[in-house]
Amino acid sequence: MYSTILTTIENGTCIITINRPDKMNALNKEVVEDLGRALEEVYTSSEIKSAIITGAGEKAFVAGADITEFLALDKEGGSALAQKGRVNVFDKIEHCPKPVIAAVNGFSLGGGCELAMACHFRVASTNAKFGQPEVNLGLIPGYGGTQRLTKLIGKGKAMELMMTADMIGADEAKTLGLVNHVVAIEELLPKAKEILQKIHTKAPIAIANIIASVNDAGNCDPTGFDNEIGRFGDCFATEDMKEGAHAFLEKRKPVFKGK
Ligand code: COA
Repeated sequence: MYSTILTTIENGTCIITINRPDKMNALNKEVVEDLGRALEEVYTSSEIKSAIITGAGEKAFVAGADITEFLALDKEGGSALAQKGRVNVFDKIEHCPKPVIAAVNGFSLGGGCELAMACHFRVASTNAKFGQPEVNLGLIPGYGGTQRLTKLIGKGKAMELMMTADMIGADEAKTLGLVNHVVAIEELLPKAKEILQKIHTKAPIAIANIIASVNDAGNCDPTGFDNEIGRFGDCFATEDMKEGAHAFLEKRKPVFKGK
């Protein structure tokens, strides 16, 4: 079904593994297309409640866009590459109504760092390394990295990382707020799955509304506060809200249905 990624569904979590380990899982045209299609499946499949994005092997999550495709591009081609990838993959991840976590298992550079940042949050293995080295190629990040890195770690540090092309390790990434958890590589997928299993016990419509509302804040959307009020009200129209309140008052665990 896919030529460059692997997908499996485990306990409602779709695990998407970028599978070009000999090329450090670099994002070529096929990977971007496969990821776009896999995300469609995450959006539409009732079997899928969440997703994890990771890389094959223990060396790289994704070491960036595939540089071998760059020399054929001119101004319009470069813009089109960035536009298509951002709309079909990166923005689609950010706005996915189901939680999407990056499990960063090694180099997360350029488009790889951008891919991790498009996810709702990140878990990293101790060997993970993050960076935006595009400037070494006479480029800038093009899949939303200038925006997302700045929002995640602040302007000063984002400027420095992008201008120097320096790589940072997992612990520094955690200190900066780029990743939420750092674990041994063998614990990486179990940790991401464990967090998602906990989220699966919550009300799915509330989760989707949290994602949309926090994205508003992350994107400095001036309608964010009003959108929150609208979504808060929407939650009162769900069966799950009634179930949550009844369960609390009856001192039992709620059973949410996503309705
Ligand atoms: N695009 C295309 N191919 C890439 C790639 C990329 N972004 N990153 C790595 N590869 C390829 C290498 O060309 C090499 O292919 P080869 O075996 O056919 O020569 C293979 O992956 C292994 O990479 P290599 O550089 O030999 O591994 P390393 O362990 O010495 O270094 C990195 C790992 C990640 C530090 C290094 O590959 C690198 O700097 N990659 C580019 C990072 C980058 O600039 N990303 C931003 C792109 S906009």
